[in-house]
Amino acid sequence: MSKPTSASPAAGAPAAQRRRFLAGLAAGVIGTIVAVVPTIPGIAFLLHPLLKKKKAGAAEGDGYVKITTVEAIPKDGSPRAFPVQMDIQDAWNKYPDRQVGSVFLSRNEDGQLKCFSCVCPHLGCTINYEEKAKLYLCPCHASSFKLDGERENQIPPRSMDPLEVRVNEKNEVEVKYQTFRAGTSERKVVS
Ligand code: FES
Repeated sequence: MSKPTSASPAAGAPAAQRRRFLAGLAAGVIGTIVAVVPTIPGIAFLLHPLLKKKKAGAAEGDGYVKITTVEAIPKDGSPRAFPVQMDIQDAWNKYPDRQVGSVFLSRNEDGQLKCFSCVCPHLGCTINYEEKAKLYLCPCHASSFKLDGERENQIPPRSMDPLEVRVNEKNEVEVKYQTFRAGTSERKVVS
């Protein structure tokens, strides 16, 4: 009859090493979790404004901005300049009701509205309307434009930039405000 053999010390050594290895691995994993988890809210806090900005941009809808009322625009076709104001938001701050540009609005006897950007397509100065000459004139380098926005001399590379305009249910005039690259014959939207 054979006697049960007792495990030799040499046979127990790998098992003890394995246990130590597993214990060390578990400690490492727990340590990593403990170190990383508290930083997640911080990262989320830093990224939040950027994510929020994207959502705000998407919520702006079709890009039309309220400018004025129909009654504020002369009926005789002569243009009037109006500021374009909107809320500006960078990654962390919101600046309500800031002027971002200006537009010319005109209305003919049939009630048709016309809108042009006040930005000169030559090099970006602000265009004025000269009532006496019935021309749009830029004070910087003498670009001039007719009432329909067509360039009147060859200084600007293109005619004035028209903007889409509509009237909402409250009889307010809304403009799809855009800016365009200056100095090019082709009309390219910048923003
Ligand atoms: S910027 Fe208007 S004429 Fe040059």
